Amino acid sequence: MTTPVTTSRLAVELAGLSLQNPLLLASGTAGYGRELDAVLDIDALGGLVTKAVSVEPRHGAPAPRVAEFSAGMLNAVGLANPGVESVRGEHLPWLAQRVKRARILVNVVGSQVEHFAQVVARLEGVEGIDGFELNVSCPNVRAGGMEFGADPDTLREVVRRARAETRLPLFTKLSPAVSDIVRAANIALEAGSNGLTLINTMPGLLVDVESRKPELGFGSGGMSGSALLPIGVLATWKVYRATKAPIIGAGGIASATDAVQYLMAGASAFAIGTAALRDPRLPARLVRDLASWCEVRGVASVRELTGTLEWPA
Ligand SMILES: Cc1cc2nc3c(=O)[nH]c(=O)nc-3n(C[C@H](O)[C@H](O)[C@H](O)COP(=O)(O)O)c2cc1C
Repeated sequence: MTTPVTTSRLAVELAGLSLQNPLLLASGTAGYGRELDAVLDIDALGGLVTKAVSVEPRHGAPAPRVAEFSAGMLNAVGLANPGVESVRGEHLPWLAQRVKRARILVNVVGSQVEHFAQVVARLEGVEGIDGFELNVSCPNVRAGGMEFGADPDTLREVVRRARAETRLPLFTKLSPAVSDIVRAANIALEAGSNGLTLINTMPGLLVDVESRKPELGFGSGGMSGSALLPIGVLATWKVYRATKAPIIGAGGIASATDAVQYLMAGASAFAIGTAALRDPRLPARLVRDLASWCEVRGVASVRELTGTLEWPA
């Protein structure tokens, strides 16, 4: 187990939540925490975003569900999850008992507008939850994926209804593939989202050239990993500049300097997925590296970095 890094230098505020450091494990890459307990100390991190939770259990997409390529990976898990009752009854009690310092955000999905609010309502008041992340941006499901975040009226309605069911901070996770991410962010914020998670995976396709078939069982999938870094940093900068809203930056982060790019572009915290799947020791190391990065440069608090990118005149 690693030593928690809880220096005040790394503490951040995120839409009213105090995080001991700005690193979260990204949704879908850390399960509901228990899966990772043997390999990393969740309580040493800023937080964990759970795998997606839907009203009913979802079996997800056919195998293979992940494929690698030189600049990242493609996945079509299809939001497989045991459903809100099982998450409430089995997974969240374990998290509440095991995790004391790290923050827990529950990632919520639905195949109909009202499903998001139903999941939130079912989990409101449950011990151990610090906030919700609405996934209106998943590229690899047949219904309730990216189109929810891409259609302004649907996006507004999903957020508005979820907002009505909780007093906890609400983050809306957007896709880099929407035509105008600033517009989508503004709609989510106006409808009651406290912050944004930027970004989800980017739609992609990998072909097995021998069989001439897609590498993934679903066909296409969501691209994650290092190829996403500049896309996510730009989305963060555009949205921060226009809204100044609290942002969880995500996409392609594999080092402290990758994370600092998101912070400078306007994120208050960041989530790491693919790189942590590859190396479960990376998150704790990255937190330590971030502390050193700040120390060497005389940055007294990581909070000072948010939004400090200097755009060329
Ligand atoms: C295997 C896998 C499963 C994912 N599942 C979810 C999910 O359930 N909900 C969600 O909002 N995002 C999900 N994501 C997207 C990640 O949370 C993150 O936004 C994305 O992977 C970009 O970060 P990264 O490049 O550090 O992986 C998933 C990503 C991967 C690789």
